[in-house]
Amino acid sequence: MKPALPVVIKPLGPIVIEGPIDLRDHEGNPISIPPNKSPGIIKLCGCGRSLKRPFCDGTHKQPILPPSAD
Ligand code: FES
Repeated sequence: MKPALPVVIKPLGPIVIEGPIDLRDHEGNPISIPPNKSPGIIKLCGCGRSLKRPFCDGTHKQPILPPSAD
């Protein structure tokens, strides 16, 4: 049995996976993992605001502005 991969769900932030994964979309098509600052660590968007979903792009750090009253 393979050792379990650490997966950390950060509050209002990314889902951090440490280790190689086989990432697929809802139809089973592979999704390539772009290189990042920390090789071997994958950050999936957990806030739903990333423009690079399924990956985190740091947008979760920006404040959520209330809708304008135009
Ligand atoms: S968790 Fe980082 S942009 Fe969504």
